[in-house]
This record gives sequence, C-alpha cells and structure tokens, in this order.
Amino acid sequence: MAILINDDKKLFTLQTRNSTYQMKVGEFGYLYHLYYGKRIDHQDLSYLLYDGPSHFTPYPYESKNRVGSLTLMPQEFPTVGTGDLGSVALDVENADGTRIIDLKYKGYEVLAGKYSLTELPSFYSHNNDAQTLKITLVDVISDIEVELYYGVFEDKDVITRAVVISNLSENAIQLKKTQSLSLDLISGQYDLIHFHGRWADERNFERVSLTHNVTTFGSDYGISSAKENPGFILLNKDTTEETGDCYGFNLVYSGNFQATAELGTLEQSRVTLGLGDNEFSWQLDPGAMFEVPEAVMSFSSTGLTQLSHNFHDAIRENLCRSKYINGPRPVLINNWEATYFDFTGKKLLEIATAAKDIGADLFVMDDGWFGKRSDDNSSLGDWFVNEQKLGCSLNELVTKINALGMEFGIWFEPEMVNEDSELYNAHPDWVLNFPHRRPLLSRGQMVLDMSKEAVQNYLFDRISDVLDSANVSYIKWDMNRPITEWYSKDLTDSRQGELQHRYVLGLYKLLGRLTRRYPDVLFEGCSSGGARFDLGMLAYEPQIWTSDNTDAINRLKIQYGTSFFYPISTMGSHVSASPNHQNGRVTPFETRANVAMAGTFGYELDVTKMSDADKKQAKAYTDFYKRVQEMTFEGDYYHLVSPFDRDNDAVAWQIVAKDQSKSLVTIVATDVVGNPPFVYIKLRGLKSNAKYKIKDNIYSGDALMNAGLKLMQPKGNYLQNKFILKKLPILNELEVRFCRPPQQENLAETHGSTWS
Ligand code: GLA
Repeated sequence: MAILINDDKKLFTLQTRNSTYQMKVGEFGYLYHLYYGKRIDHQDLSYLLYDGPSHFTPYPYESKNRVGSLTLMPQEFPTVGTGDLGSVALDVENADGTRIIDLKYKGYEVLAGKYSLTELPSFYSHNNDAQTLKITLVDVISDIEVELYYGVFEDKDVITRAVVISNLSENAIQLKKTQSLSLDLISGQYDLIHFHGRWADERNFERVSLTHNVTTFGSDYGISSAKENPGFILLNKDTTEETGDCYGFNLVYSGNFQATAELGTLEQSRVTLGLGDNEFSWQLDPGAMFEVPEAVMSFSSTGLTQLSHNFHDAIRENLCRSKYINGPRPVLINNWEATYFDFTGKKLLEIATAAKDIGADLFVMDDGWFGKRSDDNSSLGDWFVNEQKLGCSLNELVTKINALGMEFGIWFEPEMVNEDSELYNAHPDWVLNFPHRRPLLSRGQMVLDMSKEAVQNYLFDRISDVLDSANVSYIKWDMNRPITEWYSKDLTDSRQGELQHRYVLGLYKLLGRLTRRYPDVLFEGCSSGGARFDLGMLAYEPQIWTSDNTDAINRLKIQYGTSFFYPISTMGSHVSASPNHQNGRVTPFETRANVAMAGTFGYELDVTKMSDADKKQAKAYTDFYKRVQEMTFEGDYYHLVSPFDRDNDAVAWQIVAKDQSKSLVTIVATDVVGNPPFVYIKLRGLKSNAKYKIKDNIYSGDALMNAGLKLMQPKGNYLQNKFILKKLPILNELEVRFCRPPQQENLAETHGSTWS
C-alpha cells in the first residue's frame, strides 16, 4: 500500500519503494510535515517535532504554554498571516484587505489511481501504478478551502503534488502567491543544484550551499526560460552521482515560475516551488476554484544518478502522451541551418533526396514557408503557404518527399505575430501590449494574446488547414521571444495580474485540441532553442529542441545539464555543419554524430554539399543510431565524467539497457595534452558477474565498473575508436565510442592514431 493512514493519530504516510513521506495533524489543527527521506516503517515520527519555547516568534492564541509557533514548526503548506515568517506557499488578500489564510485540517480521501487537473497537464497513472491522497484544509473564517493532492507512484519513487483552492464564501479574494509545493526538512545541511543559462547556453549545472538568505530563482520571461529551469535538486553536502541523499523537484508548467530554498532560524530547511508571483494575482470569485500547477518530487538515498533515473522513467511512462513515446522516432533532417530563409521547393527536395541517402526518415521544412516571409521581419501569423516561393503547393512538395520514402514535417511559431502581417492588420487588438504605448519588439515580433479564445480558434483553424492540406506528420512548435507586456484588452484592470497564467492555460488548451485531433503527428517543442524545456510542454510534445547551439562541444554541457531531469528521448539533437554556425568551431564528424546520439538524432545541414565519403560516414552513423535508439530511449543514463569539471580533458556518459545486456559508452575528448596523464574510466550500471565484449576483448562487468576501462592517449593525435560488437550467447554487448577533440580533423586523417 502506497498510502497508509492512522485515523486516530491523524497520521498520513506515503510509502514508495525507497522513500517515505509523512504528515500529521497537530494540536491546533495545522498539518505538520514530519519526514521525507529514505524509506522507514509506518511509525509516528512526531517525536521529531520541536516542542520548546517559541523564542519571541508568534504562536497560536490557543497555545497554553507558548509553543507551536509556525515559524518553527515544519509545515505542509505554510500560508500568510499565520505567524510563519519564512517563505509561504499561499498568500491571499481577503475582501476586507486583510492578508491571512489560516488553514486547519478538515478531512481526507484516498482515491484510486492518479488525480488529474482540469485545465493543466499532469502526470497520469499507467496500469494502476499510482494512488491519490487528498487532504482538505479550510479557513473557517474566510470560507476558503484548499485541497492538497498527492499522487504516489510507488514503484517509481515519485510523488506529485497539486493544490486546488476553492472560494466558498460570498466575497471575492485575491490570490497573490500560489505555490504547488512547500517542503520543510527539520534537519540536514544541504546544497542546491539548479540549472541556469541563456540563449545557446541552456541549463548550466550550478551547485551552491543553502544559506540563511532565501535563494530565489525562477522565470519572468512568460516561458519557463533558458535563464532558469524549473527542475532543481536539494542534496547533502557529500552526495555524489553514486552516493548520498538528494531530493529533486520540478514543475509541470511552461510559464513564469518561482522556486525558493532557505535555511530557517533553527537550521531547518524549506523549499517552495510554484507559479511566479511577480505581477501575478488572481481574483477568486465566490464559488470559483483555482488549480495550482502540478509539482513533482523524488528522493534518492543513493545519489544523483538514481534520482535522474526516477524522473526519466516517470516522464517517459507517466507524463508524455504521444504515441511516439513507445516505438521508433524518425531521424529527421531540418533545413534551417542548411538554407535559413533562402529556399525554394526545388532546393528542399534536393536536400531531402540527399538526406534519404544518409538514412533520414523525415524532412522538416523550417521557418520561411508562409506569407511573404523571406527574413525575420514579416509574416508571423499568416500561416498560408507561400506557393510562389515553393514553386508548388504544399501537397505537391509533400507528395514528392513522401515518394522518396520520407515523411514530411513543418515549422510553426503560432504564438507570434509580426507588425508586417495580414493578421496584425486585421487584428491589432490580438497582441499583448500596453495601451497608448509602443510595443517592445524582440526579433522584430510581438506576442499574441493566447488567453483570447478568438486567437486560439484562429490558430487551431490555420494549423488544421495546413495539416489537412497535405500529409504532414511532424510539427516543430517554436516560440521565439520573452513576453514583456502583460496586458490583455479582454481583461478588466483588476484582472490583468491573471494574464501570465491565462496565457499558459490558453496555450495548453490549443495544444490539447491539436494533439487530440492529430494523434499521429509528432510534435517537437522549441523556444529559441531550449528556452521552454519543461514538463508542461513534454505532456504535449514528446521531444524539445534542446538548444539553437549545435556545436558538439558546447552541447556537452547543455545536454549534460538537461539530462538530470529529462530523458534522452526528449532532447532534440542534430548533427550540423563544421565549422559550426554558432561559434565557428571545427569538430570531427564522429564527435558531432556521437554527441547528437545522446538525444533524438537528426541532421541540420545541407546534405547536398556533403562529399560522398562524408555521406557514407553519415549513413553508417544513422544506421548505428537506429540500432541503438530503443536502448538509448528506454535504458538508464549515467554521467561518467562531467563537462563542468574543469580538470577533465574529456567528457563521458553511458547508457545501459534496462536488462543490462547492452551498453553504449561515449567519451569525447575536449582537449589534447602533451605527456598525458593516465586515464581510466569506471563504467556503471553493468551486471557485475556478466562478461562484456568490447572490440576483441572480453571483460567482466566487475572489472569495468571497479578497475575501469583504460584509455590510452597516443602521441600526437586522437582518433575515434569504435567497437561494434556482435552479441554472443554468453556475452553482453558494450559499445565504446571515443570522439576526437575539436580542431583535429585533418591531423587525424593524416596520422590515424587511436585510443583504445
Ligand atoms: C528559432 C529556432 C530555430 C529555427 C529558427 C527559425 O531560433 O530555435 O531552430 O527554427 O527559430 O526562425
């Protein structure tokens, strides 16, 4: 049983395979949080609660002996006005202007399966693998009820949380801050890992100590953003990839969010995560309810790798809904870096024809096919095919590409509009901007008011028309600017604070309609690369373009940071041209190909310009990828050598099939050194008593994991060493791919020396 309840003690215990989460209703009716950590028996842990004096902090009026200050008690859902002087999870302004919501326990319910939300995406249960606990709290003075939902995925060590706030009174209240989760940890010294970045440099790993200052991070970009990802980790000081306690938190949401982490006055820790409260407010009318987006958390007592595996499994099996999540994903060729805006139907067909030879399955026509768009100054919003530019109808082009044996995909940026467009001329009031002021532009474009039903309907009709006019099997859904002007002509002045959330609700509504109507279409998310890489989008789109930066060496960090929460099957990753278009770096083909294989592999270059030798090489990589795709998508991912560790001249990772019969190890040299040090890489996740064959050598899993794999650096140069293995009855397959560092292509061809 995942949910254990002791009614007499009002004790609630959520048990997963390896973790325990416990809450209890205390003396004054407050719901205290007792424990989240390594699994322990169902016993009452309330002896842990602080029962000393309140030391000049406020305590409940009913308290006879001045104990029970909410500043000191670990709480499940701290709220404003109750004497909790830390970061609260819920802040409201009542009709009389008071800022208080005093929530006391009312009751509970255990529900079979996993709860879902009505307007927001959430994790779902699969083969009865989840149970729900609902705890209801109420403020009896203001008549506001709050339901706390817990979805317990016992086997996955994952717990989801959501909050529903209902106004049962006769007066409207203003929600000022709504968090999806708050977690109080009574003891422990923690570090925080978060993933920050910018365009072309997303999800950098940063580990900092928790301090008595509140560490606040989040996004005010209107999207989850490249600046910060909603996923973050709290971990013991000595926790590593393989050992120690760690907690992961993430949000199923794609808009503004906020997370806080702090040490309390008595060294207790608190984290919160939920909607961003900057400029946010929500008028909750009598009888209305408000859903706070779902948060998801997991605990591992055996290090960060296990924590990642917990998230990867749950995201693949319980969040992504597309039929593409199970089964082969097409290798795509995208024309963006090949042509930018400068293409014709003929040119696209040539690229597709050449790409067929290197094994691509799907041709994607990127930006520039609609309206009169020939650069990024016009036509966003005018989703009508530019037949003049293509030299044919969309259907004719798609038919020709289908005749090659390839599928066809298309780019949209639905949420945007250019001033120079028919849509803007017809509906200037559909744009988000402040009255009497000129709009801010970003990439020359403005944002449509997605909270408006008319906008959603227009986009649904336009996208459907395009999809219905030809055999389109893939959509790249882009979003290329932050949202800055939170003002909708449809909302009254007092409701403008609702817009940032209403925008996201409108987006989800549209995505829900389209993905339901086109269940066979593969959707890939994108936002100037990876600026909206989050669980909300993954609920609709099983893969997201990880970054506009396609340089394989920069991608080592971007993909490494992304992989802590998000599985390989969600990360769009392509082989592009060398020198790289973003940073001019030259990298060998095998480096680009092997790095792209740690994602949904594809190409983003002009295949017609590749030499026959390069095309042959590319075909071999595509074939290899198709052989290993299932394993990389379904297997377990291990970090071996971090790109964020400056002492290393190589980066390495490993994917192991769930049954441990196969593994793929990738090592990328990032520098060459004279008189190189010895390098041994310890593999992970293998069966210790099994034999693995690498090239012509046979090793025991034990040896590879404990003594390691020897990497010999030859003098002068690096060359990729690949070991393609035949599976033998008693052996397991293990593929090791070693990639040359940048700037070494020509030397390698001359000298051909190897690592082994
Ligand atoms: C964004 C995307 C790119 C490409 C361009 C097209 O930058 O991230 O992949 O689609 O838009 O304008």
